[in-house]
Amino acid sequence: MSCYPSPNVSPVTKVVPDFAFAFDIDGVLLKGGEVIPEAVEALKVLNGKNQFGIDIPYIFVTNGGGKTEAERCQDLSKQLETVVSPDQFICGHSPMREMADVYGTVLVVGGEGEKCRDVAKTYGFKNIVTPGDLMKSNPAVTPFRKLKDSEHNSCKELDLEELEIEAIFVFADSRHWGDDAQIILELLMSKNGRMGTVSETFEEGPPIYWSHNDVVWATNYELNRYGMGAFRVFVESMYKHQTGKDLKTSTAFGKPQIGTYQFATRVLEQWRESRFGAKGAPKTVYFVGDTYEIDIKGTNEYHETVDEEWYSILVETGVYAPGSVPAHEPRQIAKNVLDAVLHGIKRSHVGETGSLAKDLVL
Ligand code: G3P
Ligand code: MG
Repeated sequence: MSCYPSPNVSPVTKVVPDFAFAFDIDGVLLKGGEVIPEAVEALKVLNGKNQFGIDIPYIFVTNGGGKTEAERCQDLSKQLETVVSPDQFICGHSPMREMADVYGTVLVVGGEGEKCRDVAKTYGFKNIVTPGDLMKSNPAVTPFRKLKDSEHNSCKELDLEELEIEAIFVFADSRHWGDDAQIILELLMSKNGRMGTVSETFEEGPPIYWSHNDVVWATNYELNRYGMGAFRVFVESMYKHQTGKDLKTSTAFGKPQIGTYQFATRVLEQWRESRFGAKGAPKTVYFVGDTYEIDIKGTNEYHETVDEEWYSILVETGVYAPGSVPAHEPRQIAKNVLDAVLHGIKRSHVGETGSLAKDLVL
């Protein structure tokens, strides 16, 4: 269950629709950090600016990360011009909080500066080490990069002889692939996560967890850019190149993993109850995404496993190239997120006859 604090708000409406929305963020609501114009209007429509005057529940399910959920929601609230609560927000690394008690000393990789160290702290990880700490402790670890003064100050010096990394968590996209890969590969091939050692079997190193597996993602550049999934391919290929073995202890969270959708269902149910006073799961969840290998695949597969309807909508504002044939077929293709929202409302609330559906929960 979500362990985020409840928002200090009372339920907004007495009429709760039996449908809801779940939004991917990059390529749907934002691109390169900028708001996709139709996104603000789409959320206004869900927040009651529709011909029926109803508020429609929605949550956000992004593979992105690198900040605490609370910080990210503050940013999103400004960008999307509506209050976004951590109670309606899931990012790629959110499920990692459930592993904080499993490991003692962990290497936390990715994100801007040392921000992911803070995220890991809020999740309850006890002994957090970053690549910066290792570089500060022995600068020869990464021959082509020296820490800047500001980085040096925010990192800690460790006794590497004593250090034993029990697991590696890639919280967000690596900003320094070469240096991070150097360190990750050393540890994967090490004896029990000790720097400067080499295992004879190459199978004694710590497991590695990725917050998602997106090979590409949509930014404000005209072509898609490589993401964490591409970095994972690089690390795993190098491991195989060096050892002749497949890396068996590599696990990805995020979409399209079914666990992420199960987690999203719990968050949505709690959100409907705390914010809208409605119990249980909605009849239909419209999932709006831009990547068919991730968002559409995950939604379609999850739909097959649950009683509720999870209805996939692919938008044309992100990774998906309009006109091409998606390898995972969405239930609907929409030009943008506003069209996706209007499609869902029309389908669930108006019905084919154009009259209001009679199945609203009062
Ligand atoms: O790094 C984030 C990106 O890979 C995808 O984010 O919001 O499209 O799931 P999102
Ligand atoms: Mg996306």
